[in-house]
Amino acid sequence: MISIGIVNVSYIAATILFILALGGLSNQETARRGNWYGIIGMSIALVATVTGVVTQNYEYLLVALLLGGSIGLILARRVQMTQMPELVAILHSLVGLGAVLVGFATYFDPEASFSGVEKTIHDIEIYLGILIGAVTFSGSVIAFGKLSGRISGNPMLLPARHWLNLLLLLAAIWFGYQFVQESALGAGINPLIVMTLIALMFGIHMVMAIGGADMPVVVSMLNSYSGWAASATGFMLSNDLLIVTGALVGSSGAILSYIMCRAMNRKFLNVIAGGFGTTSGGGSGATVEGEIVSIDAEETAAMLAGAKEVMIIPGYGMAVAQAQHTVYEITKALRAKKVKVRFGIHPVAGRMPGHMNVLLAEAKVPYDIVFEMDEINEDFPDVDVSVIIGANDIVNPSALEEPDSPIAGMPVLEVWKGTTTIVLKRSMATGYAGVQNPLFFKDNTRMLFGDAKDSLDAVLKAL
Ligand code: TAP
Repeated sequence: MISIGIVNVSYIAATILFILALGGLSNQETARRGNWYGIIGMSIALVATVTGVVTQNYEYLLVALLLGGSIGLILARRVQMTQMPELVAILHSLVGLGAVLVGFATYFDPEASFSGVEKTIHDIEIYLGILIGAVTFSGSVIAFGKLSGRISGNPMLLPARHWLNLLLLLAAIWFGYQFVQESALGAGINPLIVMTLIALMFGIHMVMAIGGADMPVVVSMLNSYSGWAASATGFMLSNDLLIVTGALVGSSGAILSYIMCRAMNRKFLNVIAGGFGTTSGGGSGATVEGEIVSIDAEETAAMLAGAKEVMIIPGYGMAVAQAQHTVYEITKALRAKKVKVRFGIHPVAGRMPGHMNVLLAEAKVPYDIVFEMDEINEDFPDVDVSVIIGANDIVNPSALEEPDSPIAGMPVLEVWKGTTTIVLKRSMATGYAGVQNPLFFKDNTRMLFGDAKDSLDAVLKAL
């Protein structure tokens, strides 16, 4: 057993390391260091809690640590890069479930001896902890279902859904009042259970109402909710570190959600209410004119070698094909021929924030040729060849041209303004949002059909 003083010092050290971790993760060059700060901080926090805060029942703790640790390790080793968002969603759901269970355990705690105002505050902590936890839990389970394709990506739009949300919110406040009143008299379990059911329903309804293309915002929003759920758990357990860590996750997740909203041109408040930005219910919408013109790998290589400016736009398909290493080999070959090559990254390309940056960093693509959408979107008129590798929604002009499109209003990479666009994909299938893409039918677009890795291997060979 270490003293409470050492526990507190360890907690402060862990908090500082978590803040440094967040700072590090904000930039690709320092992200690795940021990860290490996080790992060291979490290790210090765990050791301090196990040796300084826990006083009994070590055998349960050991079993839980071994069991949870092993499952986490196996899952993390097995998961494909393309399944990461699903893994993150299901992990968020566990944080939510944890908050709900801790909430009920705290309510039933026979040793709790609060009275007066303290009791009221403690009851509110329990109520809020369970409320946020239950919304996070059910919302994240639905998000997991949608991201993994187990649940349809189409939004479920109930009539008067915003009124339903308002009703659920008012009911949650009313039952909160009832709970605090009854708990003071030694009861209160009924309102607590009813509120838990309401919160579970709200989480389901909120995420079900969200269309495929808007899932990025939901993922980061549930990330934020899971932080607040952890923070609420910290209040219930009187654990300062959990309060601070949860608040860090909650607020950074909220900032990320805001950034995502800006990237998708959605209103932050609508996101929290659920079912934002959804118009006609996810139909394909786009009007398509023109013909599909195919191209082969040799022609693609010749076009690239003859270009002055090439822009590469990676999307989800590059992650599926694991084509990032070949992409970099091609980049090196082109740069050796004095072709200027840049990468344009859409904020929601792939299936999680920063997905493309991670893949390009893994392939060792230099950071100084990788640009955010806002930095290069004006440059397309000067680009000779844009190469779209397994991307679809993020280069779909109907986002700008079709007000009824499910992705209407989302800023996209305006590749069609360049001289030629080459699109690498396997078929004419739609992207995540299920919307037809008029880009494929434009006069200056060429389609290179096939798995992106196979196609790029052939292009590299021809170069
Ligand atoms: P998508 O619109 O999903 O398009 C990916 C394209 O890649 C598909 O059209 C598919 O066409 C092609 N593809 C798949 N496997 C391939 C392979 N092995 N080789 C070649 N092509 C392959 O992707 P995007 O343009 O990156 O847009 C991302 C979408 O996901 C957006 O709608 C976004 O809202 C959503 N989303 C993003 C996130 C985050 S945070 N980034 C989270 C959840 C959802 P074929 O089947 O014809 O090959």
